[in-house]
Amino acid sequence: MAQLERVPDGVDASVPSSARVYDYLLGGKDNYAVDRAVADRLLALAPDTRAVARANRAFLARAMRFLNDEGIRQFVDLGTGIPTSPSVHELAWEADPSARVVYVDNDPLVKAHNDALLATDPGVTTILADIRRPDLILADPALRATVDLSQPVAVLFLTVLHFVTDEEGAHDIVARWRGQMVPGSYVVISNMAAESDPEAVRRLHAATANTPAHSTFRPHDELARFFDGFELVEPGLVPVQRWRPDMESVPTRMVVEGGVGRTPQRVR
Ligand SMILES: C[S@@+](CC[C@H](N)C(=O)[O-])C[C@H]1O[C@@H](n2cnc3c(N)ncnc32)[C@H](O)[C@@H]1O
Repeated sequence: MAQLERVPDGVDASVPSSARVYDYLLGGKDNYAVDRAVADRLLALAPDTRAVARANRAFLARAMRFLNDEGIRQFVDLGTGIPTSPSVHELAWEADPSARVVYVDNDPLVKAHNDALLATDPGVTTILADIRRPDLILADPALRATVDLSQPVAVLFLTVLHFVTDEEGAHDIVARWRGQMVPGSYVVISNMAAESDPEAVRRLHAATANTPAHSTFRPHDELARFFDGFELVEPGLVPVQRWRPDMESVPTRMVVEGGVGRTPQRVR
């Protein structure tokens, strides 16, 4: 049972947060009763939700090792989440301890944790910002001090774009970043897919209506449009368990699709 839950400044513990629901699904401790209630409802309906959250983290790790092998040493992780090991900087440092990482999240709890964890490391910074405002993020002095956008960069959108609706311009956000990425850069995207179990999706929508944890489940074709202007690397956009798997996995009723795209030579 809960020790008395301490709520940092700026954090609203009365409304579920996607970062904290996800933290609970991954077995973390940085969540409140309201987040656990949403996650428990979801787990009751689709018990493999926890498995798909873990599969998404495993996809992140495999994609990062691919990017390391491609020589990428700068990363912008949009919608970072509460720190979960291995984090993006830990994976980047497997290849090069001088790799640079910018974390971006609009949840103050994520920034508080990252600052506490990484305060002394000059190669990693965390920006409290909304990915729906890409221009503000791109102009942020902390981003500019950490990564050099005249060099290849990987921009990560891992299970975050489903918190941005079509009306809010989810596809335009990716396109805005693409316009800033020199040839040889990469984008990594994963998103809840409309091919998920419809009853679980319906109940999840009911449980999270009008909260920041509400998700847009997109059909495969709409997800593929995120990669417009990029070359999808093999095996393309697939359920995350099937992206260059390093172990056997079972399909899940909740589906997250993921892929990696490269900026072609002609795009700037
Ligand atoms: C499901 S977690 C994903 C964490 C990590 N990217 C992963 O895939 O393991 C979604 C994260 O995106 C953040 N987020 C949601 N909407 C956002 C927005 N509009 N701007 C910035 N961050 C956002 C949440 O606070 C949360 O930390």
